[in-house]
Amino acid sequence: MFSERQGGVYIHWPFCAAKCPYCDFNSHVREGIDEESWAQAYERALDYYAELLPQLEVVSVFFGGGTPSLMGPKTAERIIKKIRYGWRCADDLEITLEANPTSVEIQKFKDFRKAGVNRVSLGIQALSDDDLRFLGREHDAGEALRALDTAGQVFDRYSFDLIYARPGQTHDAWADELEKALKFAHGHISLYQLTIERSTPFYIRHQRGEFSIPDDVAGAELFNLTQEITEGAGLPLYEVSNHAAAGQECRHNLIYWRYQDYIGIGPGAHGRYTHNGYKYASRDHSAPEVWLERVRDNGYGAHEPQDVSIETQKEEAVMVGLRLKDGISIERFRNTFGSDPRDLFIYERFEMALHEGWIRRNEKNLALSQEGMLLLNSLLGYLLKA
Ligand SMILES: C[S@@+](CC[C@H](N)C(=O)[O-])C[C@H]1O[C@@H](n2cnc3c(N)ncnc32)[C@H](O)[C@@H]1O
Ligand code: SF4
Repeated sequence: MFSERQGGVYIHWPFCAAKCPYCDFNSHVREGIDEESWAQAYERALDYYAELLPQLEVVSVFFGGGTPSLMGPKTAERIIKKIRYGWRCADDLEITLEANPTSVEIQKFKDFRKAGVNRVSLGIQALSDDDLRFLGREHDAGEALRALDTAGQVFDRYSFDLIYARPGQTHDAWADELEKALKFAHGHISLYQLTIERSTPFYIRHQRGEFSIPDDVAGAELFNLTQEITEGAGLPLYEVSNHAAAGQECRHNLIYWRYQDYIGIGPGAHGRYTHNGYKYASRDHSAPEVWLERVRDNGYGAHEPQDVSIETQKEEAVMVGLRLKDGISIERFRNTFGSDPRDLFIYERFEMALHEGWIRRNEKNLALSQEGMLLLNSLLGYLLKA
């Protein structure tokens, strides 16, 4: 069980060694980063939130990016110290760091562990050298596997990401690759279907017809195959793209999907937190230089936080909660909002979704079936009243 006061801290490191052509995360390539200024800025922003939200109990910290494994372990250590100084932290505080599997970063794993990191999430993406080149990655498959091996030696908990539904990827090729990958899995794996995001080089190349990706039907088949293989390996899905053995779920991501509070610090980071009984949405300035300047001038790098109306909170809670296999606890939703989450849906459409088997029949939880998960975004648009 979790208490309503428990929450997480997300730290966004906005830099990468190179920009991958498919990625629209807020990440930038910069020469000569003045890391001392960055460390000081994170510390200042943390001070600001510690004063604003003293009641928060931190159960997870997540260094995301960008590529936070490029930061010096000392910077991570300063940030972790500040968090421990500012808040009561859970005894089993989960501290995750996203890492790229290049040799430079692997060498730093032990120092990150000493800094307090106790879980890494590696961006492996593929185990085929040709596809890694296509994805513009800086590592090959051999390096990726060595990184997983090192992660296993240094950390008790680690996860990795793969991107599937790549151009020309057949059912059999994905089955082979996933089975091979699962031999290196240790409790948790994230499996994303390749999406073509606007404002990325892949978008233009895809528009020009340079490559195509599996259509919806083929994508659905690959998704179903993914479920079959991961279940067989004891790592069933617990969220649309995340798989774990029981108890190995990423606690930080569960905070988002259960609509608990989290603070977001760093360029472009988002937060949702409760202050004086109101829920606020924060959004930090996206440009790294602007963010740094704002923190220097104001002590925090966010735009004016917006208070989130109860109706929007309910919708947000449903939208994120339905990503989880267990869905939304109807009792918890009632305790929080005084109403039933199913009231947000257009009644006839909800009945139809039940009839079609997209929503599971269950009085305790509101949850999607595997078929419903495949339709997640369009289904939400179809069902929600607003
Ligand atoms: C912030 S990145 C991971 C950290 C690290 N920078 C890396 O690339 O290894 C988060 C993950 O999102 C996934 N991702 C990013 N863009 C994607 C896209 N267009 N389609 C599918 N997955 C994507 C990748 O698997 C990536 O590892
Ligand atoms: S996938 Fe990772 S390394 Fe590549 S640009 Fe995005 S954040 Fe950077």
